[in-house]
Amino acid sequence: MRIKRWESGLSESEVTPEAVYRDRRRLMKAGLAVAGAALAGVGSPARARLVLGEVHPGAYGTDEEKTPLKDVTSYNNFYEFGTSKSDPAEYAGRLKTDPWSVSIEGECARPGRHALEDLIRPHPLEERIYRLRCVEGWSMVIPWIGFPLGDLIRRFEPTSKAKYVEFETLLDKQQMPGQRRRVLDWPYVEGLRMDEALHPLTILAVGLYGQVLPNQNGAPLRLVVPWKYGFKSIKSIVRIRFRETQPTTAWMKASPREYGFYSNVNPEVPHPRWSQKRERRIGEFRKRRTLMFNGYAEEVASLYSGMDLKKYF
Ligand code: MTE
Repeated sequence: MRIKRWESGLSESEVTPEAVYRDRRRLMKAGLAVAGAALAGVGSPARARLVLGEVHPGAYGTDEEKTPLKDVTSYNNFYEFGTSKSDPAEYAGRLKTDPWSVSIEGECARPGRHALEDLIRPHPLEERIYRLRCVEGWSMVIPWIGFPLGDLIRRFEPTSKAKYVEFETLLDKQQMPGQRRRVLDWPYVEGLRMDEALHPLTILAVGLYGQVLPNQNGAPLRLVVPWKYGFKSIKSIVRIRFRETQPTTAWMKASPREYGFYSNVNPEVPHPRWSQKRERRIGEFRKRRTLMFNGYAEEVASLYSGMDLKKYF
């Protein structure tokens, strides 16, 4: 399967119909190479610019029912385009994602600015079906396309001083009208401890549901950290910085009492204004129990052994 990068966000009529997507999954599972041309019939091939490569079924994933694509692309948090859930789908189309470059900075042997294509090209793309659980109490299951962040990190040879990785979203009030309001201290900043960043579950995503990332979901490059609250999964990344000290994230700055650095999905630690014990899977009526580390405890609990997770929330 091949995916393409589009010039701007996808409208409802341009996203892949689910039946087509399911068929692609079947083909992927069968291990068949699918020609890009065969897939170009869906979406808007006239706008397709750049083939990113083949996508392989991922090493990790859940069998849970996927959240319909229309919900994944119309119910979003991307405050750079407004604070209501429908704002990103409405306004993110104006974000120009080509050309795009990412600056690699800080404690590493090979800092520098890289065109997105060069940054991604060496990495085989995989599909990873992950749960995303928002701190607000809703969740989705999304088939992401991306590659392990750790593989990218190793290319730039972080020094022994690199204990944390900091990420920054584009700062551009013209393209991102939400940045004209001081909802957050822009740009949006997030961070991970180095072992979290290197964990094989942590990916950089460039697509979802067999398509290039829609703008509202963080095109052209976003982080996905499935065991942490959704706000850790920073969108439209322009800077990756290796640091000796713990970054102060945008949400920590905005409300340190409510948002800590770790932000692991943890039903035992309530948000100061609401419980985190349950969540509403988008599309479902009845709430379900929130699982420790969003259900990824087996894979990641060891990263936090010996830590008081009420203190390091
Ligand atoms: N990244 C940026 N730059 N700006 C944001 O407002 N919102 C976060 C995260 N990444 C956000 C962001 C939050 S709160 C969530 S829950 C997820 O993106 C939502 O991702 P989705 O819209 O693709 O589901």
